[in-house]
Amino acid sequence: IIKACIREGYAFEKGIVMNRLQATKTSGGRRSMDHEKVIVIDFGGQYNQLVARRVRECNVYCEIYSYKTDIAQIKAMNPKGIILTGGPNSCYEADSPTCSKELFELGVPVLGLCYGAQLMMHVLGGKVEKAPVREYGKTEVMVDTSSPLFTGVSENTICWMSHFDYISKAAPGFNIVAHTADCPVAAAENQEKGLFAIQFHPEVLHTQEGTKMLHNFVRGICGCEGTWRMDSFVENTVKEIREKVGNGKVLLALSGGVDSSVAAGLLSRAIGKQLTCVFVDHGLLRKNEGDEVEEVFGPNGQFDLNFIRVNAQDRYYGKLAGVTEPEHKRKIIGEEFIRVFEEEAKKIGAVDFLVQGTIYPDVVESGLGGESAVIKSHHNVGGLPDHVDFKDIIEPLRDLFKDEVRKVGLELGIPDYLVFRQPFPGPGLGIRIIGDVTADKVRIVQDADAIYREEVDGAAQEYKNEHGKDAPWMPNQYFAALTNMRSVGVMGDERTYDYAVALRAVTTIDFMTAESAEIPYEVLNKVMNRIINEVRGVNRVMYDLTSKPPGTIEFE
Ligand code: XMP
Repeated sequence: IIKACIREGYAFEKGIVMNRLQATKTSGGRRSMDHEKVIVIDFGGQYNQLVARRVRECNVYCEIYSYKTDIAQIKAMNPKGIILTGGPNSCYEADSPTCSKELFELGVPVLGLCYGAQLMMHVLGGKVEKAPVREYGKTEVMVDTSSPLFTGVSENTICWMSHFDYISKAAPGFNIVAHTADCPVAAAENQEKGLFAIQFHPEVLHTQEGTKMLHNFVRGICGCEGTWRMDSFVENTVKEIREKVGNGKVLLALSGGVDSSVAAGLLSRAIGKQLTCVFVDHGLLRKNEGDEVEEVFGPNGQFDLNFIRVNAQDRYYGKLAGVTEPEHKRKIIGEEFIRVFEEEAKKIGAVDFLVQGTIYPDVVESGLGGESAVIKSHHNVGGLPDHVDFKDIIEPLRDLFKDEVRKVGLELGIPDYLVFRQPFPGPGLGIRIIGDVTADKVRIVQDADAIYREEVDGAAQEYKNEHGKDAPWMPNQYFAALTNMRSVGVMGDERTYDYAVALRAVTTIDFMTAESAEIPYEVLNKVMNRIINEVRGVNRVMYDLTSKPPGTIEFE
């Protein structure tokens, strides 16, 4: 929730909002990692974070930087390898993102992907042109398996292609090591110089042996040992936190979401009772969620820390009474959170550090990492609160992707149901109740949502037990919402005039676009029956088929 407030731009009462660049300076920016590192140079393509994630899956630490990054800075980072990503431009056009020739002369292996491959050829004297046939989708690629990039890869392998331009002539000194029916240079290499260019996207799972190729590059060609592991991350981070905090006092706003929970677990392991977690129950959480958070982090839980639960339900319902406009509701929920949090902070007295659950995609998308920030600016984090009573900020997760945060959570012994939670918005059920919020409407949506999640989870587990893999319809986010529409129904011999509940389930990779999930009809039917029978005040259940765009995932 604190991240949501920050996104909305709320400052702490006595504090100032500083922008993230300043925050990076004060929190020391990225840690001076002493382990091996691969650098991803971002040319604005859509899969760029995916490239970094796949490299990390090879147990190699990896960071994303914009193509505008100075060559001296890249050199100073002493990377073991460099990967140039895809991008939407044509490298032969004047204003297109480019890189200097020097990048290929650092003595560090370089792998160019799609746009990155074309750029490598273009800069080194090859030829890139508009392709006579545009390749898009799964494509059969014939590879030369004697190339170290394709060790262990099948000679004919399915890869994901997406390009208008193609390499019509490889640069001098390069050998062609893969082709397709329409693309004469699907991969080229200059082994001596450690330069590799591939036209397709190994980072996308549709490229069936893509992980093997990336593994070949980072572990084989670059010689990385693969020391990036979450157990050593926990150990190192705990040590760093202890050094930074000393005897200081630390405050954390715990929302029960994955990031703040894992941050709390890490801090607790490092400094125990020097940490105070404030958990504000705003009465807009899912059913039993407040108690679940208390069970794990409260006095009878597994972590050594001070836990303060503030039951602010009535306060929130009072503030929200009669408010119907979605952005106004968000603002009230955010502001009230800051107020409650500050009141608790005052009771504790001066603290030395405030913990932020920032994760690596927040950093990249707020413009400090790669180039994709430009595309996803609406996800930016606007600033950080800099309360006078806080000396500094601790961001223990700022180098991690979400799946890595979850792994750390498991390492710390946080229960699965917290670690694998689906995303839940900061303003909670407040934006899943269309129109004004009342305690009774919260009860309806909590009960309907609990039934829906229970049935979907049960059906998904059943599918997995039977087929040994995840159900193809498994949504990435699914919840019930209250439409605020009442309609006539009949129950027994009685006429009813009750609310309609809407069920939402989407499949998505990045939550920027989404499709309605094809949950089996019998599952939906069972959910409908249970909601009508078990949730007082509901006589109609609907399923939302809208994709995003034009819809959003949430209703408000
Ligand atoms: P939309 O509704 O914009 O949702 O398609 C995309 C993702 O963002 C989450 N979401 C929010 N998260 N505060 C948050 O912290 C908000 O106000 C908010 N609105 C939407 C939503 O749950 C989905 O995962």
